[in-house]
Amino acid sequence: MQLQSLYYGLLALLIALLIRKLFARVQQYTTARRLGCQPVRKYPHTLPFGYDLFRKRIQQRDAGRRNQHVLELFREHSPTFEENIFGQRIVQTSDTLNFQAVGTRLDDFGRLERRSVEPFFGRGILSLHGPPWKEARSIVTPLFKRAELMDVGKFQKFVDRMFALIPRDGKTFDMQPLLQKLFLDSSTEFIFGETVDSLRDPSGQSQEFLNAFNQALAGAGKRMAVPGAAYLYVFDKTWREHYRKVHDFIDECIARRLNSDRKQILSDRRERYVLVDGMAQAYRDPVELRFQLLNIFFPARDTTAILVSNTLFCLARHPEHWAELRKQALDLEDQPLTFELLKGLSAFRYTLFESLRLYGPSGQIRRRALRDTTLPRGGGPDGSFPVFVPKGTHVIVDNYPKLRDPQIWGADVEAFRPARFEGKVLGWDFTPFFGGPMICPAVNQVISQSVYLLVRLVTEFERIENRDECWEYVERARMLVESANGIKIALYPAKGSIYNQDKL
Ligand code: HEM
Repeated sequence: MQLQSLYYGLLALLIALLIRKLFARVQQYTTARRLGCQPVRKYPHTLPFGYDLFRKRIQQRDAGRRNQHVLELFREHSPTFEENIFGQRIVQTSDTLNFQAVGTRLDDFGRLERRSVEPFFGRGILSLHGPPWKEARSIVTPLFKRAELMDVGKFQKFVDRMFALIPRDGKTFDMQPLLQKLFLDSSTEFIFGETVDSLRDPSGQSQEFLNAFNQALAGAGKRMAVPGAAYLYVFDKTWREHYRKVHDFIDECIARRLNSDRKQILSDRRERYVLVDGMAQAYRDPVELRFQLLNIFFPARDTTAILVSNTLFCLARHPEHWAELRKQALDLEDQPLTFELLKGLSAFRYTLFESLRLYGPSGQIRRRALRDTTLPRGGGPDGSFPVFVPKGTHVIVDNYPKLRDPQIWGADVEAFRPARFEGKVLGWDFTPFFGGPMICPAVNQVISQSVYLLVRLVTEFERIENRDECWEYVERARMLVESANGIKIALYPAKGSIYNQDKL
């Protein structure tokens, strides 16, 4: 008797759930009709749980074809399509209008909650949305604005240290690791108040920190790979050991900075701007402060190094652009390289933009629908109708297909031609730093540091030569996409240039 009533109870619950689901579907259907939405094209999965596409992505990524695969997928399945991976509905789009919607309608599209990796990243600007994100952003924006104006001077010392490591006898070398060290050193000083000093690395400590950081990231990647993957690693203690080393490093920097003499900090500030000082005034709790800083260091670590590396990849294959830039740099004569001057060097900016267009380090932005909503385009047979996006759907906007779209960039879309940016009004067509209120707060700092570095390079070196036997760009996709073959080049110093080691 008891068993029978349990059975009926369960049956009633199941029927109630089904009715609820059906009711929600009908409601969504009528809302979608009312809003003029039409169905979005569906990816034709051939295996359950979207395993076919999931497996293909991994294979293509491992073969150095992550972005090429994205391009092929979008060309085949229109600029907006839907896939279903392990039960998660995902709308993929590279449509400019949809980029704008996702970038500006923050009540509709929010960041994904990454609870499985929270022990490492904590809660910070990168994982927040709604009012907590607004608060974090309002703290960070003025700090970056202040920093970008004062930044160039302090960046110089790191560039000088890197220059000392560049071979000057036409020997082949890989520029990528040098640039990684340069930006690692300058970003750790800017964010934590202390550089890890990897360009000189007297104690080997920087390598230890980097190893721990990379392992912690790899562990986070595994836990985020598919829904539920984190449970596979509950007994894996090594991840904790790695991220704790990273946390300890940051905590020690914060403690040293906050305990150091106020007079010293104030005099320091006149020469360089350090993020931890500004952030410490807003976040009193040391753990919260650590996570907020880590959330800035994470996007800072490799991005600018990859941007400049890729630019040199392009220039080594187009040395005529190097010669053009060098001519403009020499015309500056001895003018001090201030933020304002660097802002006006448009040929250098366009060179960086063209490199970002062809090989930007961060392609995808992933969001979650916070409520039932729509995307302006992608539905119907020709993709021109709005698409209904139920709450919980993931939306991925992918830069790569948009940045290689001949309708936006012209028939020579595959060519490296910085002049295509001349007179072009940059809007949602060009979003390597995303756009709207969540645009990368470091965009001006990144561009001015990169222009500064390029000016210094073309002034110091008369000529660049490609020494990579492989002409094509082979990708290595980790969290970001970088050149798998590094940047193998030779640089020839200008006649009469004797690098002054005393400046270091
Ligand atoms: C070439 C260099 C860089 C590129 C292409 C880049 C790109 C981006 C993109 C696309 C986003 C949006 C991500 C999203 O909303 O999901 C972003 C956000 C962010 N970036 Fe960058 N970034 C670069 C360098 C940096 C650097 C050097 C820093 C710090 C020093 C930095 C700090 C941040 C922060 C804190 C956010 C989060 C902003 C927010 O949520 O309001 N980025 N970046």
